[in-house]
Amino acid sequence: MQHGEEKPHLRTCSQSEFSPKLRYGKWTHGIFEKLGDPRSKAVHVLGNSWQVYYKDDMECAKKYGKIWGSYEFRKPMLAVMDPDMVKAIIVKECFTYFTNRRNFRLNGDLYDAISIVEDDEWRRIRHILTPSFTSGRIKEMFSLMKHHSSKLTTSLQSKACNNEVITVKDFFGAYSMDVMASCAFSVDVDSINNPSHPLIKHASKLFKLNPLLFIFQGFFPVREERDRSSHQNADLLQHMINSQTASEAKKEKQNKGLTDHEIVSQATMFMFADRFHFPKKGSVQYEELMQMEYLDSVVNECLRLYPPAGRLERIAKETVKISGITIPKDMLVMVPVYALHRDPELWPEPEEFRPDRFSKQNKQSINPYTYLPFGLGPRNCIGMRFALVLIKLAMVEVLQNYSFSVCKETEIPLIMDPEGLVGPLKPIKLKLVTR
Ligand code: HEM
Repeated sequence: MQHGEEKPHLRTCSQSEFSPKLRYGKWTHGIFEKLGDPRSKAVHVLGNSWQVYYKDDMECAKKYGKIWGSYEFRKPMLAVMDPDMVKAIIVKECFTYFTNRRNFRLNGDLYDAISIVEDDEWRRIRHILTPSFTSGRIKEMFSLMKHHSSKLTTSLQSKACNNEVITVKDFFGAYSMDVMASCAFSVDVDSINNPSHPLIKHASKLFKLNPLLFIFQGFFPVREERDRSSHQNADLLQHMINSQTASEAKKEKQNKGLTDHEIVSQATMFMFADRFHFPKKGSVQYEELMQMEYLDSVVNECLRLYPPAGRLERIAKETVKISGITIPKDMLVMVPVYALHRDPELWPEPEEFRPDRFSKQNKQSINPYTYLPFGLGPRNCIGMRFALVLIKLAMVEVLQNYSFSVCKETEIPLIMDPEGLVGPLKPIKLKLVTR
């Protein structure tokens, strides 16, 4: 629906079904009419909770174009798919106006995790953590990753031999959890074979029930022992502890290291940062893995079709004019990544899985502000390179040994989860065939 005079678009459900939300929604209606650009006046009311929100963004893009306003309950949200505007918001004006994400202040004890903290606190923590994610550091962690990818392959063996149906995420989720536990804390958890490990038990409850973070913290009397012991492989935890000691020594105030609580929050977050994604013979080496062009294209194409974060978000710190549109202070600006990745103007036959879109030759012509599985700019995904190595390694090792096949338990087509990250509502089930 275009322009403010018309009634908000109410979609297909009946008025009574979502009238409370609609009433909330109307409180702030009208705000987009003041923004100074007719494109931003297209107003969409987010109403029904059973709608898959990232698919809904595609509908909005079809109806309204590259910019529209919408309401989540009473909260106005400006959706931006225009590449120049996306660039301005997430890259050029990141430090000035769009440093922060929305914060529901419901993060419990993780209030100071890097993904949540704001402004100077965020800059300080990001600055300290960045060196842990350089290519050099990831290369150092590669042998730990290999240890776990080979365990993953072994754990699939009996399933393949017995022709059993597997729940894919149980295996790949455990693999990612194990890699994170060993890279972040130097703890060998083996969550595939040992799901009752105290770290796994506590950690899996953590995100459902944040107050339980304190139990998890009990896992870290580690710190005092860590201070004294020398951890040659300097895992992430050790690196964060070192940042404390270094700044204490220098008595730096401005660039002070992480507090104990901040360390626990960052480490905990890393454990979960990639729970949602994933992905003849011979031992896989880091350099070779990085040079596998088709593998890279396949991973990129998977992340185009299923970017775990279907939207990026930033909050305007001050009122600012971007590409002729006035964005008021505190306005939530949202980049609909899922919709961008399936825009037929950018991706011919967008629903088709075509890794060649990312071939060496073709990827030159992709506008970087239209392909955003890891976000972009100073606040992009800090774990991007790490995640890509983790995924590619598991793919190569597993596919060297098995192929996957659908079975009667496989849900086709997949029903997507209407809430949270982009993913299926029910776990994917497949069978394995030994190669
Ligand atoms: C396929 C895997 C992954 C995907 C698709 C992914 C995607 C994303 C996206 C879209 C963002 C928001 C970026 C933005 O707002 O511009 C993000 C932020 C973040 N990711 Fe990832 N991520 C992945 C894996 C990981 C891993 C393995 C780690 C840690 C080891 C990690 C750590 C983070 C952190 C700390 C942030 C917040 C950064 C900040 O606020 O400064 N991610 N990720």
